[in-house]
Amino acid sequence: MTKPQTFFVKTFGCQMNVYDSERMTELLGAQGLRAVDNSDDADLVVLNTCHIREKAAEKVYSDIGRLKAEKRPNGVKPMVAVAGCVAQAEGEEIVRRAPAVDVVVGPQAYHRLPEMIARAAEARAVDTDMPLESKFDALPRRARPSGPAAFLTVQEGCDKFCTFCVVPYTRGSEVSRPAADVIAEARALVEAGAKELTLLGQNVNAYHGSGVSFANLIRELARIEGLARIRYTTSHPRDMDDDLVAVHAEVPQLMPYLHLPVQSGSSRVLKRMNRAHTAESYLATVERLRAARPDLALSSDFIVGFPGETEADFEDTLALVRAVNYAQAFSFKYSARPGTPAATMEDQLDEDAKSDRLARLQALLMAQQHGFNRATVGRRLDVLLERPGKKPGQLIGKSPYLQSVHVTAPGLAIGDLVEVEIVSAGPNSLEGSLIQKAAA
Ligand code: 5AD
Ligand code: SF4
Repeated sequence: MTKPQTFFVKTFGCQMNVYDSERMTELLGAQGLRAVDNSDDADLVVLNTCHIREKAAEKVYSDIGRLKAEKRPNGVKPMVAVAGCVAQAEGEEIVRRAPAVDVVVGPQAYHRLPEMIARAAEARAVDTDMPLESKFDALPRRARPSGPAAFLTVQEGCDKFCTFCVVPYTRGSEVSRPAADVIAEARALVEAGAKELTLLGQNVNAYHGSGVSFANLIRELARIEGLARIRYTTSHPRDMDDDLVAVHAEVPQLMPYLHLPVQSGSSRVLKRMNRAHTAESYLATVERLRAARPDLALSSDFIVGFPGETEADFEDTLALVRAVNYAQAFSFKYSARPGTPAATMEDQLDEDAKSDRLARLQALLMAQQHGFNRATVGRRLDVLLERPGKKPGQLIGKSPYLQSVHVTAPGLAIGDLVEVEIVSAGPNSLEGSLIQKAAA
């Protein structure tokens, strides 16, 4: 196989994978490879994969099959690299199940991609090490962010071992990047045009880089001139300490929207999940946050049908959702993941029971989301315009509460932070009418 000239990265899963894909794109670009817009034109296809649920993981194998079965005009098949969390979790199995794969590289080793690609021209290259050297030190300096809202990984991995979750096995143990590195990367992104940064980590509020707490990291970042908005995700209820809560009251750039996964509203189930919080302590945390920032909008993740979940447990989840009133949420059927403690627990629920509960939960969450959106009609909100809309002259941006807002007005550009009045609301997006081009 000859050395590839062009490449395409396909991203599955969470925002951290989106970030990693951007860094791989910069890395391959720095090696002289050219990014193309779809896999059909690429000599190298990188699948940046997700292992969180069975469905996510299975997609990879169907993609590999499709890529290797492709009939291209020149008869050359693309080189296929599997990166990300499936690579980490199933390195050897990928090689067995999909012998056509050329490169397998885990999420902590992708800075070695160029060298692996060179080796793969001869024979398959597999690297699922969790190396001591940090990939961040080996990667090129940040190039232009892909839009005005950029992601920035500050912490990776997890030591909490929720009994359903593969992350401690795929991303390794909790590691925070030094604060100085994070601040330098933030400055580079802002200089290159980013106005909003979302700080990423599997347990982002457990951040403690070189002795700097997460609360103080946000305070430091808020001093960067030109950085208008700061967000962070995903946080764990257990690490929501008083100082971080205070930052929500103190730092105006910190947006009033927080993704705070609860997973279940039953303290009995939470205990079996090893979440280290109860439904009551979660509600108390929400109260502390709302006392600090009364307009805080909340989102969450839920798992229904965890082993042993009874109808009464599930109703506790519905009760918690009613008590919090979420602006947005993600909900999933429990998926047994190999190697995790919950996968071998007794009392696994059948698919029908899970589907039924998921439908009931999602109906409630969707009603809340729509209600939240409707409540913003008539309000004036700042919107950071991020991408073109479908209609001529239309742009789509995000409100402080992470709602998608459509704005149509002459003279607006991507990257503008504008003030709009919300004139209508659907379940998934809002329509805004321009008040002024500079945010309030
Ligand atoms: N089954 C279903 N959902 C899961 N999640 C994590 N592991 C599983 C699993 N085994 C969900 C959790 C987590 C989100 C990223 O994915 O809700 O917060
Ligand atoms: Fe999926 Fe978790 Fe890996 Fe993100 S960190 S890609 S959610 S398995």
